[in-house]
Amino acid sequence: MLTRSALHVAVAALLLCAAAVGGAGASRRPAAAGGSCCRKHVKRITEYGAVGDGKTLNTAAFARAVADLSRRAADGGGAALVVPEGKWLTGPFNLTSHFTLFLHRGAEILASQDLNDWPLIAPLPSYGRGRDEPGPRYSNFIGGSNLTDVIITGQNGTINGQGQVWWDKYHAKELTYTRGYLLELLYSHDIIISNVTFVDAPSWNLHPTYCTNVTISGVTILAPVHSPNTDGIDPDSSSYVKIEDCYIVSGDDCIAVKSGWDEYGIKFNMPSQHIVVRRLTCISPTSAMIALGSEMSGGIQDVRAEDNIAINTESAVRIKSGVGRGGFVKDVFVRGLSLHTMKWVFWMTGNYGQHPDNSSNPKALPEVTGINYRDVFAENVTMAGRMEGIPNDPYTGICMSNVTAQLAPDAKKLQWNCTDVKGVASGVSPKPCPELGAVGKPCTFPEEELVIGPPELPKCTY
Ligand SMILES: *[C@@H]1O[C@H](CO)[C@@H](O)[C@H](O)[C@H]1NC(C)=O
Ligand SMILES: *[C@@H]1O[C@H](CO)[C@@H](O)[C@H](O)[C@H]1NC(C)=O
Ligand SMILES: *[C@@H]1O[C@H](CO)[C@@H](O)[C@H](O)[C@H]1NC(C)=O
Ligand SMILES: *[C@@H]1O[C@H](CO)[C@@H](O)[C@H](O)[C@H]1NC(C)=O
Ligand SMILES: *[C@@H]1O[C@H](CO)[C@@H](O)[C@H](O)[C@H]1NC(C)=O
Ligand SMILES: *[C@@H]1O[C@H](CO)[C@@H](O)[C@H](O)[C@H]1NC(C)=O
Ligand SMILES: *[C@@H]1O[C@H](CO)[C@@H](O)[C@H](O)[C@H]1NC(C)=O
Ligand SMILES: *[C@@H]1O[C@H](CO)[C@@H](O)[C@H](O)[C@H]1NC(C)=O
Ligand SMILES: *[C@@H]1O[C@H](CO)[C@@H](O)[C@H](O)[C@H]1NC(C)=O
Repeated sequence: MLTRSALHVAVAALLLCAAAVGGAGASRRPAAAGGSCCRKHVKRITEYGAVGDGKTLNTAAFARAVADLSRRAADGGGAALVVPEGKWLTGPFNLTSHFTLFLHRGAEILASQDLNDWPLIAPLPSYGRGRDEPGPRYSNFIGGSNLTDVIITGQNGTINGQGQVWWDKYHAKELTYTRGYLLELLYSHDIIISNVTFVDAPSWNLHPTYCTNVTISGVTILAPVHSPNTDGIDPDSSSYVKIEDCYIVSGDDCIAVKSGWDEYGIKFNMPSQHIVVRRLTCISPTSAMIALGSEMSGGIQDVRAEDNIAINTESAVRIKSGVGRGGFVKDVFVRGLSLHTMKWVFWMTGNYGQHPDNSSNPKALPEVTGINYRDVFAENVTMAGRMEGIPNDPYTGICMSNVTAQLAPDAKKLQWNCTDVKGVASGVSPKPCPELGAVGKPCTFPEEELVIGPPELPKCTY
């Protein structure tokens, strides 16, 4: 029987649920229909035999839990798997649809450091092979394909990839296959990742691929600044992705928007578009705050970065491409950057290199155009702009306005080095290269907001 106070909590949750679905006057929908509501079936991982001692391997418990909750969720009520305080060691596992993974405060899901617990999976069709090594790749730690309505949230619990063993083997060239990503969802839509912490990924952290309608908010991502390829969030051939209020410290790009690799990406032909990055704080001394590429062969279009902060980061919004990539990067809008200790405020690269095999097409030239930066303040800068397009394939339509880069004591004498780029600038200090001709007006930023995710994040606690 429910006690009075438990009933009270349940009723309160239902009310919140109704508010999240439609607010006053909206037609009633059952809980979890549409995905923005509290789940009907709620189970703790302990109910499937898991032990939170940091030593017991709980792979079977996670698999049983997701299989069971997948069946239960099918009645339309959705399901939540609750991970309470404790250390829950497990091998890789997949998620399911109409599903919430809810981590309590002090809950930590630990990835097994035994490579035998990591099965091999097929490479991504848009990459043709693993990113580190040819052929198949190690499973992602948390995966899922063809899902809808997935929420990963809680009270800032942690998903810990325990990546040190992978980084060591990677550096020692002891890995035959590509490292797994910490979280990868394929062909999925209506995803929310909010109020969780990801640490020490073996390689990339969050990798939504072939996905639409993804909200990532209030997420903390931490990896040592010299760990290899620990990118924070990599939307890949994905559309309508919103990344807000995240804090990322990593050994590679804090965010890297991608869309497949050379001839495989060109053939797969699925762009990343309608991407929003707001109020990010990034620390990444050897990489970019936001990279576009280098894998961009399916195209990248309509990226909007607003009010972002980088501290001790190599560059801000960087474009990485090269001959053989094909594809495009266009309609990039950046407004409001606050940058402290930067090697390059602006960095574009036209000879990134790194090809999947020897079959990339040397005639596949990327189109890079319509790149807008405004309202940028940077201090302790080594060099304002390193702008390298591609010979006979210049990066065009670059616009910079209202930019101040205050130089570091050991700043370079040459502040701008521009080759194979064309554009305009106004109110930019120090004075830009002649390739960026004068114009008297601010650079464009779209006025209408993109609609991504639910109007309000669900507030369900379990
Ligand atoms: C997860 O799903 C993928 C297919 O999307 C499959 O290849 C893989 O084996 C599954 N992993 C686990 C641990 O079940
Ligand atoms: C997921 O959807 C894709 C694209 O529709 C399809 O090719 C693939 O076979 C599906 N995968 C699974 C595991 O159902
Ligand atoms: C979440 O946890 C991380 C890691 O412990 C911490 O850095 C971050 O400040 C926490 N976020 C919130 C909102 O409490
Ligand atoms: C996007 O996903 C949210 C749930 O995360 C859902 O409420 C919303 O309707 C979806 N929007 C579209 C356009 O599919
Ligand atoms: C390209 O070909 C060269 C020589 O045939 C070979 O040594 C190299 O491994 C190949 N590179 C890739 C990425 O396959
Ligand atoms: C110029 O950019 C700064 C931020 O660096 C902003 O505070 C200021 O309002 C901008 N000025 C104009 C005229 O937009
Ligand atoms: C300025 O940048 C240099 C690296 O170029 C760094 O060593 C120094 O600590 C930074 N100074 C401040 C005040 O942040
Ligand atoms: C400027 O950039 C080009 C590549 O685009 C490079 O070859 C050249 O060395 C750079 N010049 C200086 C002085 O750094
Ligand atoms: C994350 O926390 C914020 C601030 O407390 C809250 O507004 C939001 O609803 C939470 N997200 C989820 C999915 O519960």
